[in-house]
Amino acid sequence: MKSGLIVAIDGPAGSGKSTVAKLVAERLNLPYLDTGAMYRAVTLACIKKEIDFSDSDAIFGVVKDVDIDIKNQDNKFEIYLEGENVTGAIRAPQVNANISSVSEILEVRKVLVSKQKKIGQSGAVMEGRDIGTVVFPNADYKFFIDASFDTRVDRRYKEIVKKQIPITRVEVEQDLKKRDHSDTTRKYGPLIKTEDAIYIDTTGISIDEVVENIAVLVSSER
Ligand code: DC
Repeated sequence: MKSGLIVAIDGPAGSGKSTVAKLVAERLNLPYLDTGAMYRAVTLACIKKEIDFSDSDAIFGVVKDVDIDIKNQDNKFEIYLEGENVTGAIRAPQVNANISSVSEILEVRKVLVSKQKKIGQSGAVMEGRDIGTVVFPNADYKFFIDASFDTRVDRRYKEIVKKQIPITRVEVEQDLKKRDHSDTTRKYGPLIKTEDAIYIDTTGISIDEVVENIAVLVSSER
């Protein structure tokens, strides 16, 4: 089900994978897809509908009919929920707090993975947790981007503060701990380092350096 070049970039929250993936896509002139944004949009849809996050049937009811649209123009990634641009809204702390309840449901994952396969079939740089394992297990390139826990907390904290969202560093730390646990231990589509993925630890190295290394490797073999 794929005809174009697929670069799969997986890794934990705050590892720098989104920034890396976006820049690599730009360099390689490929569409970029942030799959986390799709899980976030479904979570936001549930919040808007006041769904009980312990009710997996109700969450599945939302994902089945939800209208999520991705726009990717001029290297600008935007996501729309029922026609509304929610690119900023999906980063709210309330979304972070409830996203694990959504991403743990198999039926939710099936719906989103199927959309992701369709979006990426003619080539993409796709980032998430299960791209190299579930969405595109035959991806041309697989990278696992990581960083120390402290570095990841720092990056997320700075990102959120920059958006003027009130939050403490301790809250960011707790959120990342909870999501790391859910991301690595959930039954379906967990985040795992596979042997066929190139492991990159971004602690103490610049994002530009990581992008350069990935782009050079992919371009040299294209
Ligand atoms: O990449 P991110 O931090 O924006 O992702 C938010 C959450 O979405 C993450 O904690 C787990 C979920 N997610 C997932 O389950 N599978 C993916 N491919 C991408 C994200």
